[in-house]
Amino acid sequence: MSEAIDFFISKFRDNINREYEPGRYFRPRPYRNASVRFRNCSIEDFEKRRDILVNEAGLNAFMFRSDMIPGCDLLSDSGTTTMTMRQWAAMLLGDEAYGSNEGYFELKNQITETFGKDWVSGNENRSGENLFIFHQGRAVENALFTVLGRVAAKNETRQPKLANGLMPALKKRIESKLLSGKGNTPGSCDSQFIIPSNSHFDTTQGNIEDKGMIPINLPCPQHLADDRDYRFRGDMDVDEIENLLENEGSRVPLVYITITNNTGGGQPVSIANIKRIREITDRFNIPLFFDACRFAENAWFIKKYEKGYSDKSITEIVHEMFSYVDGFHISLKKDGLVNMGGALVLKEGGIFTEKYPDFKGGLTDYQIMAEGHPTYGGLAGRDLKSIVEGFRVVVRQDYLDARIGQIKRVADSLTGYGIPIIEPAGGHAVYIDMDKFFDGIKIDDFMGVSVTALLLIAGHRVCELGTYAFGRYMDGNEIPPDPRVNFVRAAVPRLAYEDMDLLSFVEAVKVLYDHRERIPGVNVEYGRDLPLRHFKSRFSFKK
Ligand SMILES: Cc1ncc(COP(=O)(O)O)c(C=O)c1O
Repeated sequence: MSEAIDFFISKFRDNINREYEPGRYFRPRPYRNASVRFRNCSIEDFEKRRDILVNEAGLNAFMFRSDMIPGCDLLSDSGTTTMTMRQWAAMLLGDEAYGSNEGYFELKNQITETFGKDWVSGNENRSGENLFIFHQGRAVENALFTVLGRVAAKNETRQPKLANGLMPALKKRIESKLLSGKGNTPGSCDSQFIIPSNSHFDTTQGNIEDKGMIPINLPCPQHLADDRDYRFRGDMDVDEIENLLENEGSRVPLVYITITNNTGGGQPVSIANIKRIREITDRFNIPLFFDACRFAENAWFIKKYEKGYSDKSITEIVHEMFSYVDGFHISLKKDGLVNMGGALVLKEGGIFTEKYPDFKGGLTDYQIMAEGHPTYGGLAGRDLKSIVEGFRVVVRQDYLDARIGQIKRVADSLTGYGIPIIEPAGGHAVYIDMDKFFDGIKIDDFMGVSVTALLLIAGHRVCELGTYAFGRYMDGNEIPPDPRVNFVRAAVPRLAYEDMDLLSFVEAVKVLYDHRERIPGVNVEYGRDLPLRHFKSRFSFKK
């Protein structure tokens, strides 16, 4: 072929491999739209949105009608995926049998493909099933902690007071939670289990507390530090978990790692950290679980940034990650690439199934009462088919490059305007740091709620995940989250938006940032003292 053609090929290649610069990005998405949804409202309808927000939704983003959002709906990346044509096609082949439908067996096989051979489920007479389907992640959490509370109570003995050997700051954190424990006299922790995690998601935290257990977050010291070079800020604090298990191991039925760490900014967890936590939990014979919602995104970061993994495929990395845990729960609405679904998967012969032999029976009974047979767990047979197909796509390198690259482009555009976010950005969302956003400006407690409300008027929806979502109101006092988190999260749905949409969101944030001293605070009109209050509360703008 002529030299000139080779010249142009090399120029085209340089072009698509260029680092992103705002306004100049030339690599196409690895997919194209196969179906589109026209909007029924206009970006110009600012006053209409203001009226709905104030009069109908009480400034609560969860209550705002989605058909009135003309811009980006970044409330959640959960269940908001645009499914592929193959997923829709697979749904037509759904088997709607009452039990053990075709999709269930396909999903069992796919779980072994995706997570590795340790996750083989069942034996010939199918008495050893280890896959339990649920309608979504929080339903798994509810079931897991209900049944675990019952079976773990049988074989654990716990002291009435917390051990003196606990690190003082850790002890204080646990004690502050004891006061809110169910059926618990202040200062005593009779019968209370502790479930540690790098950081629990809000529903996980809610479900653990609801069962009278104590959720405790042990994020690594770098998790909110201004250290751009540390890429695995989702890691767990190794010293704290070791100290907790040394002193209060009998109170810990299970250790959790959330991948990626949503509450801590969607930050990834390194294999090195997972391995280290495994060594510690092994020493104390305590099971280790993943909250695995974003497992593929986590694996992408390991491949990109962890030493020794750049030549491995995403699937190989996923297999290694999952070789270190005894079970996992997953909301399939994230890296399952579907709109609804959840699952609990247990490793046969792992510490969990050995330590709690009655768990599976208890869980099966629970499921039959609450969700349906474990082989469909509240989902239609066709849903299982779409999950199988979703698992095939989510580990594709080109898909993950495009997805996480898009998040980075949004993050870079925000920081280009000086807007403070958690840096580097994680895998599914950009977290705008409210404390820094309003640094040096006199503000009210819940500015994240105000920013969220004003962005809705601009035409975009985000989620406050900060002092309102994670704080508590007790005895007339506001107790902020500890460790402190104060973010507004823009979570990007998978396969749904183009860069242009997201950049329009960035411009709206810039308007607020440029005039941040004029942003009004909010009054809480209803629900300040409720559990999970950010889903339910109503607010009004201060005059
Ligand atoms: C880390 C994490 N765990 C659990 C859940 C709960 O899953 P679901 O929304 O399916 O109930 C979520 C949802 O966003 C999450 O991000």
